[in-house]
Amino acid sequence: MLTSRVSRLTISQTLAIVEKVRTLQKQGKTIYDLSVGEPDHPSPAAVKQAGHQAIDENFTKYTAAAGIIELREAIVAKLKRDNDLEYSPKQIVVGNGAKHILASALLALVEPGDEVIVPEPCWLSYPELVWLAGGEVVFAPTKVEDGFHLKAEVLDRLITPRTKVVMLNSPCNPTGAVLGESEMEALAEVLRRHRAYVISDEIYEYLRFDGRQHVSPAHFPGMHERTVVVNGVSKSYAMTGWRIGYGAAPQEIADGIAKIQSQMTSSPCSISQKAALAGLSSGLDYPEMMNRDFSRRRDICHDGLKSVKGVNIPRPEGAFYAFPQIPGMIGGTVKGQPLKDSMGFVDYLLTGYQVSVVPGTAFRAPDCIRLSFASSDEIVQEAVKRIAAAVADIK
Ligand SMILES: Cc1ncc(COP(=O)(O)O)c(C=O)c1O
Repeated sequence: MLTSRVSRLTISQTLAIVEKVRTLQKQGKTIYDLSVGEPDHPSPAAVKQAGHQAIDENFTKYTAAAGIIELREAIVAKLKRDNDLEYSPKQIVVGNGAKHILASALLALVEPGDEVIVPEPCWLSYPELVWLAGGEVVFAPTKVEDGFHLKAEVLDRLITPRTKVVMLNSPCNPTGAVLGESEMEALAEVLRRHRAYVISDEIYEYLRFDGRQHVSPAHFPGMHERTVVVNGVSKSYAMTGWRIGYGAAPQEIADGIAKIQSQMTSSPCSISQKAALAGLSSGLDYPEMMNRDFSRRRDICHDGLKSVKGVNIPRPEGAFYAFPQIPGMIGGTVKGQPLKDSMGFVDYLLTGYQVSVVPGTAFRAPDCIRLSFASSDEIVQEAVKRIAAAVADIK
């Protein structure tokens, strides 16, 4: 008999889509895939080279649980350069991906029954990780007409003495929303009146459009000492498979995360740490190159859908996702078949139009779909044309 902790977890809905895509591909069908959550670019040459070198030099043993000192020093330098945040290497913990750091940070901070505020729509792992830590999720709604930006009034209404953590994610997966400085300041003002910690997932930091700036909540007065900054190399250096992420936190929390990690995984992969060090040390050319590609594809995606009747698509501000609302999906029909929510439409889109996207139900937004534009310009262009045609089928 499994624990209630595990029974409450759900399997990622994206896996079911991936399975269907594979079956159709095996049948020889071309699929226009806008469901992937990773850059289509390869890891940079310097990263691959450092990985090879680590193996050749037998850098293949356990490392310190919180990561090798050179990498932690490089992260300290990055946080100073890009975010104007001061940390010592002891306050940095390197983990097996940002997801691993998020899980460990929640385990370190959340007691059973504590409340964690999660803006909604949200990345699908946040609620699951909170539940795994025994916490209760309080969803903070954001609206399509606000571009899915979390409003300080909403946070103010929901935050209570029971709130232990507030999760923030800017740039956001799935909505592409990027919080501006004044919005972040307004959230910080609410947070300072309460005891809650912030876990700030900044994994899409470099992927922002139209000159938008990234601002970490840790940057505001009184916030450094209560914020866990989570970031990594997966999205910024196209290194999803290497599994390296990191957290920067007040000393007690960093020690807690490192302790959890030492018992669960001993250390992150030694070879990947060297590769991540090479990525971080190579500066911002690579993320900026990817950002130019994503910015162009964002335009293709947004321009192709903004005038389609029945589609309400905020202009993505960052990350590589668009999150159109298609209200007709709920209660509508296609070719006489009733649609309940985005899952039904996503199925139709895949089988009828060979386009793969992720249903908004996965992110707690049943009338939306998530399009990833981390695919070639041609694929994004064709997929968007097909989505427009499929929406026209909804009666
Ligand atoms: C918002 C968000 N945070 C964290 C992650 C996980 O990143 P990593 O590959 O470093 O575990 C993802 C990956 O999709 C993400 O979208």
